[in-house]
Amino acid sequence: MNMNELNGPAGATRKIGPVILALNNISLSFGGVKALTDISFDVRQHEIRAIIGPNGAGKSSMLNVINGVYRPQMGDIILRGEQRKNMDCYGAAKAGIARTFQNIALFKGMTVLDNIMTGRNLKMKSNFLMQALYWGPARREEMEHREKAEQVIDFLEIQAIRKTPVGRLPYGLQKRVELGRALAAEPDILLLDEPMAGMNVEEKQDMCRFILDVNDQFGTTIVLIEHDMGVVMDISDRVVVLDYGKKIGDGTPDEVRGNQDVINAYLGGEVGVSGSKLPADVTVGPYSGRFPHTPDQDAK
Ligand SMILES: Nc1ncnc2c1ncn2[C@@H]1O[C@H](COP(=O)(O)OP(=O)(O)OP(=O)(O)O)[C@@H](O)[C@H]1O
Ligand SMILES: [Mg+2]
Repeated sequence: MNMNELNGPAGATRKIGPVILALNNISLSFGGVKALTDISFDVRQHEIRAIIGPNGAGKSSMLNVINGVYRPQMGDIILRGEQRKNMDCYGAAKAGIARTFQNIALFKGMTVLDNIMTGRNLKMKSNFLMQALYWGPARREEMEHREKAEQVIDFLEIQAIRKTPVGRLPYGLQKRVELGRALAAEPDILLLDEPMAGMNVEEKQDMCRFILDVNDQFGTTIVLIEHDMGVVMDISDRVVVLDYGKKIGDGTPDEVRGNQDVINAYLGGEVGVSGSKLPADVTVGPYSGRFPHTPDQDAK
């Protein structure tokens, strides 16, 4: 894999750092619907932080708060120690936050390469007129951006489909392209909303590997929503559990697995409605034991 120039120092070692993002007492409602009630948790630099919970628990709403799609009625967002009063999508992207969506958000008629190029929009400096004329600095810039996009394509091993319109690709590959679009922005924090939903086992393993590689090689902090408990328990450093908009658990995979409130939330409702398995039921997966540390031990 050859994306070392893309972000961060080459061969960056994986060490959980200090808190990079803190959500304090976040409450969000839509009319009478309380999507989030007084939620607090933090995310440390370089960690893989999972958000889990049954359907409608407020997971996607939480990501939407983090990247400024929704503005909570109450609570604070502290990014790198600074309070973000008016976080909007543009501000979040400028601050190094990229995301993928629960429902794939790509231009289906455009090629893989062009979709990934859209992830670089914010990095483009030359103005529209210069770009239209393809003149001087704009031309150089375009070439630089194309090179970065090609690096992402190499990294995700999708060279063979780089000229294929996204709409013609199977679902699992579309999800990979969406990850590519987010990576093209060279984010510090990557928000992934169910990146493995609807995938078969092999596709899930591939996606897991890419998520781990992004985290390992570029030191990217990852906030991950995922229903597959095997995956969550295997690859996350810490897990926050939401249920009906409230936080009911927060800790290492082992802590969360043994948390009675979490077990009740997954058993109490109609089991299987969310497609989730009971955390305590989780079998050991292929990535187990990869992170033998706890974040507390590694924190600087
Ligand atoms: N834009 C919106 N307008 C009105 N209600 C919304 C909106 N977005 C979310 N909600 C409501 O907020 C609650 C939380 O929804 P959210 O999508 O965050 O849940 P989720 O945990 O992501 O669920 P899932 O696992 O099904 O994706 C739900 O009751 C949902 O109907
Ligand atoms: Mg959701």
